[in-house]
Amino acid sequence: MPAMSDAELLRHLAWQVQAGADEAIGETPVDRYAARPPAARPAPAPAPEPVRAEAPAQPAPAIATAPIAPQPASPPTAAAPAPAPAALRPAAQPLAAQSTIAADARDRAEAAQSLDELRASVEAFDGCPLKQTATNTVFADGNPKAKVMFIGEAPGEEEDRRGLPFVGVSGQLLDRMAQYVGLDRSSFYITNVLFWRPPGNRAPTQVEVAACLPFLRRHIELVGPRLLVFVGGSAASALLGRTEGIGKLRGRWMTYESPGLAQPASALATYHPAYLLRSPAQKREAWRDLLLLKAKMATLN
Ligand code: URA
Repeated sequence: MPAMSDAELLRHLAWQVQAGADEAIGETPVDRYAARPPAARPAPAPAPEPVRAEAPAQPAPAIATAPIAPQPASPPTAAAPAPAPAALRPAAQPLAAQSTIAADARDRAEAAQSLDELRASVEAFDGCPLKQTATNTVFADGNPKAKVMFIGEAPGEEEDRRGLPFVGVSGQLLDRMAQYVGLDRSSFYITNVLFWRPPGNRAPTQVEVAACLPFLRRHIELVGPRLLVFVGGSAASALLGRTEGIGKLRGRWMTYESPGLAQPASALATYHPAYLLRSPAQKREAWRDLLLLKAKMATLN
């Protein structure tokens, strides 16, 4: 590779950080292109995964397309783009392996009789490849005895660093939204569909969701909330098995049932705060959702 100026190097570094390669894992840099014979070099990588940019008007399946973070920008020079960092690309898994992993996740999740056991079980589970690139397992926050449980999509950078859900910028907005209806983390419980951060905040794949879903379902059973709030399309479609976009699913009460729940929970989907930060005009709709939540909370005994 021809020598680059400091300014060019900085631009490339900034691009990598934006794309999610934001943790140093060695003391010294390694030029993996130099280490490989030319014949073994990979063809240019395909375009990056669809990004998380929740688009309510699009009815596409939400697990694959309900996006919430800005797309990593292209490298800011005219030079040929480097292949996407391997950690950003989800590894392909044969179908048989996927079903073995899902069965293992189900067995482990069903065996958990308490939240502590479930947390330990999630932490010991190696079936979701995201665990390898994450810094922390992000299990939950808030009051597990609360009547209201929020479920988001996946940890972002700050959540990965701190091991807690919704503690970054979008989490701050979610906390403010919850305050409008008189809730804070002592009166709600919160978790995500995925326990580990997708590199570069890309959208979760269906394989990743399938690996984590049995734990999430058991999580809900062990908490036993009266009300569930699906924060964004991923949570709504994963738990309801629906393919409509969040724009269609939000704004009305639905029912979530599970054999381990003493009674079905009422479930409401709303826009993800990361989407609201980028599309403030939709805050009006989110506000309507919050009013629905407030009215329903008033009916609980
Ligand atoms: N977005 C989510 O869906 N979950 C988090 O924990 C943070 C951001």
